[in-house]
Amino acid sequence: MSTQSRVKLIDGKAAAARVLAEVSSEVSQLHGLGIQPALAVVLVGSDPASQVYVRNKVMRAEETGIRSIEHRLPADTAETALLELIERLNADPEVNGILVQLPLPLHIDEHRVLQAIDPLKDVDGFHAENVGGLSQGREVLTPCTPAGCLRLLQDSYGELAGKHAVVIGRSNIVGKPMAALLLQAHCSVTVVHSRSSNLRELCRQADIVVAAVGRPRLVDANWLKPGAVVIDVGINRIEQDGRSRLVGDVDFDSALGVVSAITPVPGGVGPMTIAYLMKNTLAAARLQHRTLISQPQLSEASCPSIS
Ligand code: GUN
Repeated sequence: MSTQSRVKLIDGKAAAARVLAEVSSEVSQLHGLGIQPALAVVLVGSDPASQVYVRNKVMRAEETGIRSIEHRLPADTAETALLELIERLNADPEVNGILVQLPLPLHIDEHRVLQAIDPLKDVDGFHAENVGGLSQGREVLTPCTPAGCLRLLQDSYGELAGKHAVVIGRSNIVGKPMAALLLQAHCSVTVVHSRSSNLRELCRQADIVVAAVGRPRLVDANWLKPGAVVIDVGINRIEQDGRSRLVGDVDFDSALGVVSAITPVPGGVGPMTIAYLMKNTLAAARLQHRTLISQPQLSEASCPSIS
């Protein structure tokens, strides 16, 4: 058997389908109680990638039995108008989750907008209260991409305690919350970034590598310990042989010769992000309807990402 045939391809589509099936089943139980979880998605401007992401989120919500409410605003929308919309969504008992698609136009202060979202409706887990709660190990709404990555690792690796995980990238959306989740899963965690002086050597010590830097094929076989498990969060569009294609932060073909398991791009992490958005929307609906729902169910679902 060749080395490559022993490599496990981590199938994010199949894993996401399992998560969505769990969510659908719990959502239909809520329907039985007269509750339909609802997600408000706000898109400002017409960035083509954001439009695709929003369309996929809305589609997935509907498939899962979650009502989606889209707010598309022009690129020149004033920050005050966006803040007023968020206030209305915060106050609306029919809305359980609020997602403001990033990036926002430059004239809008992203931090102010994210802080305006009610932390109980913050299905992105970007509000400082949720970020702080995550770092303290409290049960909070957790950013969807790292939560999805953790689930892929647990599914393919089993017990993570004691493993050395290297996270490449320190963004607020992926790198930092990923490190916090891996720490909670009892890994030894190293975060490396563009200013790390010995990036490759640090990475080569890792049992688990999560690459989230947005640099096409930065990580190749020389960066990886034999048998490492690699989660590639990067989605980079490149031109190759006159064609446009998507590649990750990891050189997939090179890594295949070394790793024991790896996520492909596309079809790895991407579908899990949306699945965890649905899971967070369900958790937010449970949090807001806690008087109607028995406690054991609530505690199970209110922290889907950390369990
Ligand atoms: N833009 C890129 N990723 C994300 C995400 O996870 N959430 C939001 N709201 N915007 C994004």
